[in-house]
Amino acid sequence: MNDTQQPSTIYLKDYQVPPFLIDKTDLVFDLSATATSVTATLSMRRNPEFPDTTTPLVLHGGDEVKLIAVAIDDYQLPEAEYSLVDHDLVVTATPDVFTLTIETLINPQANTRLEGLYRSSSMFCTQCEAEGFRHITYYLDRPDVMSIFTTKIIAEQGAYPVMLANGNQIETGILEEGKHFAVWHDPFPKPAYLFALVAGDLAKITDTFTTMSGKSVQLEMYTEDHNIDKVDYAMDSLKRSMKWDEEVYGREYDLDIFMVVAVDDFNMGAMENKGLNIFNSSCLLASPTTTTDDGYLRVEAVVAHEYFHNWSGNRVTCRDWFQLSLKEGFTVFRDQMFSADMNSAVVKRVEDVAFLRTAQFAEDAGPMAHPVRPASFIEISNFYTLTVYEKGAEIVRMLHTLLGEEAFRKGSDLYFSRHDGQAVTCDDFLAAMQDASGVNLTQFARWYSQAGTPKLTVTSHYDAEQQNYQLTVLQMTPVTPNQPTKLALHIPIKVGLIGRDGTELTTAHQGISAKEHTLHLTELEQTFEFKGVSQDAVPSLLRGFSAPVKLDYAFNSQELLLLMSSDSDGFNRWNACQQLAVNELLALIEQVKAGEPLKTEFELVQGFASILQDDTLDPAMVALMLSLPTAAYLSELVEEIDPQAIAKARKHLKETMAKQLSDLLLACYHKNHHAEPYAPTPKQMAKRSLKNAALGYLAVLEVNRSLVQEQLAQADNMTDEFAALNAAVHNKHEQADNMLADFYSKWSHEALVVNKWLMLMAGQEHPQGLQRIKNLMTHDAFDLKNPNKIRSLLGGLGQNIDVFHNLDGSGYEFLADLIIELDKKNPQIASRLCTPLTRWRKMKPELSALMEQQLQRIMAEPLSKDVYEVVAKSLT
Ligand code: TRP
Ligand code: ZN
Repeated sequence: MNDTQQPSTIYLKDYQVPPFLIDKTDLVFDLSATATSVTATLSMRRNPEFPDTTTPLVLHGGDEVKLIAVAIDDYQLPEAEYSLVDHDLVVTATPDVFTLTIETLINPQANTRLEGLYRSSSMFCTQCEAEGFRHITYYLDRPDVMSIFTTKIIAEQGAYPVMLANGNQIETGILEEGKHFAVWHDPFPKPAYLFALVAGDLAKITDTFTTMSGKSVQLEMYTEDHNIDKVDYAMDSLKRSMKWDEEVYGREYDLDIFMVVAVDDFNMGAMENKGLNIFNSSCLLASPTTTTDDGYLRVEAVVAHEYFHNWSGNRVTCRDWFQLSLKEGFTVFRDQMFSADMNSAVVKRVEDVAFLRTAQFAEDAGPMAHPVRPASFIEISNFYTLTVYEKGAEIVRMLHTLLGEEAFRKGSDLYFSRHDGQAVTCDDFLAAMQDASGVNLTQFARWYSQAGTPKLTVTSHYDAEQQNYQLTVLQMTPVTPNQPTKLALHIPIKVGLIGRDGTELTTAHQGISAKEHTLHLTELEQTFEFKGVSQDAVPSLLRGFSAPVKLDYAFNSQELLLLMSSDSDGFNRWNACQQLAVNELLALIEQVKAGEPLKTEFELVQGFASILQDDTLDPAMVALMLSLPTAAYLSELVEEIDPQAIAKARKHLKETMAKQLSDLLLACYHKNHHAEPYAPTPKQMAKRSLKNAALGYLAVLEVNRSLVQEQLAQADNMTDEFAALNAAVHNKHEQADNMLADFYSKWSHEALVVNKWLMLMAGQEHPQGLQRIKNLMTHDAFDLKNPNKIRSLLGGLGQNIDVFHNLDGSGYEFLADLIIELDKKNPQIASRLCTPLTRWRKMKPELSALMEQQLQRIMAEPLSKDVYEVVAKSLT
């Protein structure tokens, strides 16, 4: 990309209210695959709050939108009275109050970006967040412009019997030439990013929900005909979400109908369009034989997430896109708590934290690090990040901890009532929480503006004579791009003390006697005192992962084993086990690098053995404790990433465990192998997860190959089937290729299962490595226009160390080629594919140089704003 076309940066500090308002938006779509005409009739007026009353009207547009006509109050503007500047429509002279009519022509079939109006299989659908609406018509495409939408859809009746948009259907009718129409009206003012339209030949299931005030809501879920047998679980999840939001947040649904549609081509997981959620089919469809337990949990969580947005996002929306976490962080927190209530809370917390610490911490340590409320961006699509979503959720969770359940609820009630129908900021959210609770959140607010993962260094001191225990905590937040200095954060740390004999001690902190205390870290260094401590103790720090920080305390192995067995906090029991494994693996990685023989310490084996024999533990927790730290998490922890050494260390540890624990693992496998018919219940899922964790180890050993084959042959559900196949493939069983081929022919008609196959194929270690992955791209199963397929293929590639991190650079070159090609079709997805390359500075030197080369090569191409921003920031 050359300097003249360098995209510009947008800053939060430059925010201004919109110069114009749009009270009403009437849209007419005459749908056709290649030439859809859109007529927008906008009731507009100057915004009385905007200082300059002569500012021209500038409406956002997109490069593929063809302007046919523009009129003000029925006066057709001649070309001299408007202009197109950088895709935007500029009208120099307007009255203070007027009706603007715009006719545009768009080509949904050619829309491969999957924003605006596009085709997925044989249907039409839309995706307007964040700035997709401008690809449909010219508009004030910003979230603080809220309007009442009426949408008329015209289409051929035969091909598009179902036509949906936001709100309630108010009219339908038959037209000439086999066409029909439907008119939808949404009474709630909303920003354009929540607009949605769907048309197609769709099947549906319906249900009803009676709200807490006794109103009956019609629930409808739509899919293509062949998938309609797979939405019952999503419907059930929806009803549970609606109930939960009433019980926990007092939030009632507000329209007479709530619709959900599944589409195969979608850039993200799902979208909360008012009254008409649109889902990636991978996040909506579920059936026992095609969906794993993880898949079921994902459907439940995403259905809840999108539904919860109806209040946290739609009724109260964002003033500008810098405030994205206002809706996303809060809604992720809400969906996490919902899933915790529906399933095992500890298991859910462990999974969320593992994800945060692996992926969000890495983002926070890399060139794209940004505050939860970013201060600037080039392309907003690049800021739908783990920081905004997951760290944003952690901020809300900390608020929940600081305020307590009851005051937090008062705060959320106040937030919703105070700002209903408004577009607001993260500061407004904090103000409501502060006003309702009386808790001062001034310092806490820094969590929104300061990037980087804080590191806590903790030391302890026990005075036996005084029965006094001290914890000294240092906080340090590392430098991140554009933020050279960091201030102290307000960090809530939940702690307990475990006596050396395994009893949990009751201690006094600031006059309160309890087994658990919440410490308020507010300075760079602080010492906390506990009195009445009858024996020396091991500190149980950061219980439930009470803050998104890195924790450094010099636990020895015996202390970790004690926490593992005796801590009352389930999260910390898991964390102690994980830490033990991390220590082991870090030592092994060093041995690999030094070319020394690899040796495993006894403690971890001992720890695993005792977990496997402990019948009191939830099988799901045992499964989580048994799963070794991932290569990605280890990469986050080391100074310099050596993917080959990490893989060797993990392989060695896994083999050691499998050999030394094989009897216990086999017993565990059989104990948790049950014959009941499949149900996605927490109890069954827990047993399956443990059984398959055991299988993962057992499959390493030659003698257990028949066990794997048996499970594959007998499985009546995808969880067991895929676990067996995965174990065979990654342990190089000689049957693996045949198994993969059989699996493909068995499931070639199920797109979502085929995607799982693609991932396995691309992840398989193989002498032909890269060539095999290239061949996959020409396979029937692949399609460069489908984001799910790209994610599967690339997900597999990322795990395939030999291919991706090949020292000849061919893996990186392949990825760069793909990014360059894809950027012309779908910039949002192309930009996301850049993530592994953004970590180049942390790779071992020979790989680092190769990655940098590829970034440079991408940089020399003509690029979208999306890819430009990520690559440019990575190289500075
Ligand atoms: N608001 C959506 C969610 O988190 C996110 C989303 C869906 C999105 N599709 C998108 C964001 C496309 C950017 C582009 O639920
Ligand atoms: Zn969301």
